[in-house]
Amino acid sequence: MGRWKQKLTLFLSLWTIASPAALRWCNLHLARLSEQLAREPKVQWPSAHLKPGPVTPERVREIAAQVYDPNSPLGRELDQIFSKKMENPDSLDDYFRSYEVFYWSPLYREIADRMHEALPASGRFLDLGSGTGGLGGILAQEAPGRLITFMDKPLAVDTARSRMTKLFPGAPDRFEYIPFYAGPKTRLFGNYDGALINHVLYTMPPKRKEGALAGLRDHIPAGGIVAINEPVKEAVAEGDRHREWMTRILETAVANGAPHSEYDVATILAFASGRATKSLRSGQDLELPLQTRAEQEALFERNGFEIVRSEPTYDGFSRFWVLRRKPN
Ligand SMILES: C[S@@+](CC[C@H](N)C(=O)[O-])C[C@H]1O[C@@H](n2cnc3c(N)ncnc32)[C@H](O)[C@@H]1O
Repeated sequence: MGRWKQKLTLFLSLWTIASPAALRWCNLHLARLSEQLAREPKVQWPSAHLKPGPVTPERVREIAAQVYDPNSPLGRELDQIFSKKMENPDSLDDYFRSYEVFYWSPLYREIADRMHEALPASGRFLDLGSGTGGLGGILAQEAPGRLITFMDKPLAVDTARSRMTKLFPGAPDRFEYIPFYAGPKTRLFGNYDGALINHVLYTMPPKRKEGALAGLRDHIPAGGIVAINEPVKEAVAEGDRHREWMTRILETAVANGAPHSEYDVATILAFASGRATKSLRSGQDLELPLQTRAEQEALFERNGFEIVRSEPTYDGFSRFWVLRRKPN
């Protein structure tokens, strides 16, 4: 066989193996998001260790190892850069911008697919702690009857608004935006048919978690569904589990075409590991108010929800619950 024929055969057989996944992941949603990101300012600073431009899965692993190492040269550079950045509240922009790399990970998409299956195909749903709208956007894309309300810090919700306006042109009525950080006594705005919460409760102190669940109970009718995915304390506390989970998300996102750079990867790792915000805690280690599976299930039950389904996600790092609002 001639060389070009060999190449064509190899290409076609790879395409046949890869095409269902390729078609699924190179979807319009991510392609449009990539176009938007290309026109926006990049997270960057003069670095001795990081390069602009595309990042490889191998580099993700190297960067992760260094960010989680207290004495690595890149780690020390990040300590310096972020202690300066933290003097300006707009630096949270960097967090939200870099966080979007998650959207390219097939593992994140798996969570979105579980939520899609669990929630009804029509109705009004609150995405509590929505970030820049990655999950709510996928759920809206999967079922045209869903209206999504995004609730998070103003910086995040503003970005969600700009993303949805471009991703769903001509459908502004399908989305609402609440630039608000829920506190322990917050009562939610408006009523919902259900809600979704992904990796949000673990950052909330206990009283705030109670407030969030009580708020959902009061604004969702009996029978309404809440889909929740949260890390579980017993898994996160195991050795290097946190670093391994982050590395896996990032390397799979990058392998799936995320248009992010080494700076984005280092930035989201610096925030996730607590390194970026160290100066705000006078150098203390980050202690997240994580709860065990049993503690989270007790939180749901005492706030008026029954557990319909519960299963491990992210290789046991997190857990996915489908809750149903009990009758009063
Ligand atoms: C790890 S991100 C997850 C974002 C989004 N749920 C997703 O899956 O892509 C956690 C988000 O929760 C938000 N958050 C944490 N506590 C919150 C609160 N009390 N009220 C609103 N948002 C909150 C943070 O601002 C952040 O955007």
